[in-house]
Amino acid sequence: MVFRAEKSRYTKTMTSFAVRPRRLRSSPALRSLVRETVLDATDFVYPLFVRNGSGIKTPIASLPGLFHFSPDTLLTECEAAMGEGIRAVLLFGIPDAKDAEGSEGWSAEGAVQQSVRLLKRELPELLVITDVCLCEYTDHGHCGVVSGTSVLNDPTLPLLSRVAVSHAEAGADIVAPSDMMDGRVGAIRAALDTEGFPDTPILSYAAKYASAFYGPFRDAVGSTPGFGDRRSYQMDGANRREAIREVLIDIAEGADMVMVKPALAYLDIIRDVREAVNVPVAAYNVSGEYAMVKVAAERGLLDEKRTVLEALTSIKRAGADIILTYHAREAARWLSEDATI
Ligand code: PBG
Repeated sequence: MVFRAEKSRYTKTMTSFAVRPRRLRSSPALRSLVRETVLDATDFVYPLFVRNGSGIKTPIASLPGLFHFSPDTLLTECEAAMGEGIRAVLLFGIPDAKDAEGSEGWSAEGAVQQSVRLLKRELPELLVITDVCLCEYTDHGHCGVVSGTSVLNDPTLPLLSRVAVSHAEAGADIVAPSDMMDGRVGAIRAALDTEGFPDTPILSYAAKYASAFYGPFRDAVGSTPGFGDRRSYQMDGANRREAIREVLIDIAEGADMVMVKPALAYLDIIRDVREAVNVPVAAYNVSGEYAMVKVAAERGLLDEKRTVLEALTSIKRAGADIILTYHAREAARWLSEDATI
């Protein structure tokens, strides 16, 4: 008897719960009605790698599903991406020749410059962002001028400015410095203004951490440093407050938008930056984050679509307005196929 009385009291208590979060999870339509974060293809920036030549579409071994393009095949890829809802791309160049200063980085005939001219002529609606850095172009693989084993800050600034101006001259909509030299946003802003590009925005890689997650990218562009690493200029992954400092400095120097990079291991930083500033915040879902999912999916360990959309949603939920991701095309396709994810 005692047992039965207790049991009925228990049941009664359960049925009279006032608060039941599961009530709002009962159907796809209800879930989408109360969803707080909604991904959209217009959130994405699709990073692409380009080299000089024609007819090139070479698979990148370290980044399954991605390619090195020449300007003509890049155009085809961008048209297809736009057809899937992508509206912005980020271009990285692979030079014909590297040297100590990375001089092909600012050549008017460089792969990025040629591609920007072609894309802006053929696809004027596509937003073309260019990565401004020297590491793809230097024979030592560092993002600045090197003396002995040091990467020199101030002598690097005029070179980065030349790269940025050459991209703007080619027609780039936005330039995105990724080098992490001090003062580079201010130097690039001044150079753009002087050269007649006061309206070209700067998306600064403001809180860029020295990360092992860049490994596949460095294989893709051959920019692994020949000596040492990038810890004397990229941020220490243990630091949180310093990200705000970096972001505020870049905004003070004229950055129109700021980026946190990588994204998934730094979601707390994205949130902090989102709350500290009022400019748009971008997050870069980098090569290593992409490759981990791809390889696990290839091996059947993860459901690729669900994993990618969950990861990208988490980046947006953390506070990113803009997500740079190699998954962009596929994610855009998945989102348009199935609105009830
Ligand atoms: C160039 C640059 C890098 C990335 C973007 N711009 C590499 C690096 O800093 O070593 C990484 C992108 C990625 O891993 O997807 N400085």
